[in-house]
Amino acid sequence: MFQLSNEGKQKVLSELKRYESRQSAVLPALYIAQGENRGYINAEVIKELSNVMDIPESQIHEVFTFYTMYNKEAVGRHHIQVCRTLSCMLNGAQELTEHICKELNVKLGEASKDGRYTVTEAECLGSCGTAPMMQITSADSDAYYENLTHESAMNIIRAMK
Ligand code: FES
Repeated sequence: MFQLSNEGKQKVLSELKRYESRQSAVLPALYIAQGENRGYINAEVIKELSNVMDIPESQIHEVFTFYTMYNKEAVGRHHIQVCRTLSCMLNGAQELTEHICKELNVKLGEASKDGRYTVTEAECLGSCGTAPMMQITSADSDAYYENLTHESAMNIIRAMK
C-alpha cells in the first residue's frame, strides 16, 4: 500500500495551506506523490492523497486523468519527454525521438530494461522558438534542453547518472 513519506506529507499539507480551495492543491500534490511512487500515479496513490488531503478520491482522479504530466505506469529514473507539437515537429522532433529510442534501445513509453530511462512525447513545452526541445524529469531535478541535435540530446542523456 502506498504511503507518502513524512516529508512528502508535509509538502502536501503545506500546499493545502497555500490555496483558498483544497481542490487547487491537487495538482502539486499529485506531482509530489508521483515523485515518491517511482514516477507514476495509481489507485493507491489517489487513495492516500484523498486521506491526507480530505478530498474525495473521485475529484483527485478527475484531475489526474485530465492532465498529461502524470504517468499511469512506472517510468525510468530519467523520464525524457520530447515535445512533439508544431514547432518541434517541423524541426525534427519525430526523428529526434526515434533516434533517442534507438540509442537507448527502448520503445516509446516503456522503461528501459535497466530502469534508467523512459522516453515519451509531450505536448508543447513552451519553448517553441528554440525547437526541438525536451524535458527530463528525474527524482531530484526537472530540466529543459533546447535547440537539440541528435548528438547534443544524446550527450545530455548519457551524462545523466
Ligand atoms: S512546439 Fe515544442 S516547445 Fe512549443
